[in-house]
Amino acid sequence: MNMKIVVEKDYQAMSKTAAAILADAIRANPKIVLGLATGSTPVGLYGELKKQYRQGQLDFSNVRTFNLDEYIGLPKEDPNSYGYFMNEELFKDINIPLENTHIPDGQAEDLEEYCRAYDKSISQEGGIDIQILGIGENGHIAFNEPDESLALETNIVELTEDTIKANSRFFNSMDQVPKTAISMGIGTILKARKIILLASGEKKAPIIGQLLKTRRINTMLPASFLLLHPDVTLVVDQAAYGEMN
Ligand code: F6R
Repeated sequence: MNMKIVVEKDYQAMSKTAAAILADAIRANPKIVLGLATGSTPVGLYGELKKQYRQGQLDFSNVRTFNLDEYIGLPKEDPNSYGYFMNEELFKDINIPLENTHIPDGQAEDLEEYCRAYDKSISQEGGIDIQILGIGENGHIAFNEPDESLALETNIVELTEDTIKANSRFFNSMDQVPKTAISMGIGTILKARKIILLASGEKKAPIIGQLLKTRRINTMLPASFLLLHPDVTLVVDQAAYGEMN
């Protein structure tokens, strides 16, 4: 298997390791194009990047970012939108010009056209240099849910019951969780030059175990497509690595 695996003792160490990889890459290429994820997993990584910025060790003024996904229907000001999340967790505390950041617009008028334009703008910026990914307990990456087939390009997706349930922890009730989202496709993700997959906590141990054991790509395990990529680093904490070692 191509995947490089780094096992850290806990969430904080996982976050620091991922931040160190990104920070070195930003210093080496100040105009880097980053692919970013939301969710609980990268919060610590973003915290570390903010810390390095405050300490004068990082400059984001020429960095460009593309986020993986966004709920359809939520305005950017909605605290549950991924746009809001990115501002709160990262953008407002670093010197990245907001026009350099891209998050799919879940309120775009023509969503299909918007999805095509999103992939195009990634290519126009030169493609993603490093893509950060989390993984769903069901094996999804971005919102590419287990299914008979998976979209290649940025697309409109229906979230599975499992994902709606998992995401409902951030909402007041299940019915408030959007049922559809815009998500980069598997092909969009695999075009990134380098991928860092993060996983933390015992809830992720079964899916990480499955991923590391599999010798077949399988649309019911969307993360298995990462096995086709030549430069993926899995950074996990001990709890998510589980019984594997
Ligand atoms: C978020 C995303 C999702 C999450 C995944 C894990 O932008 O694309 O695939 O990475 O659902 O979420 P957490 O980190 O909350 O466990």
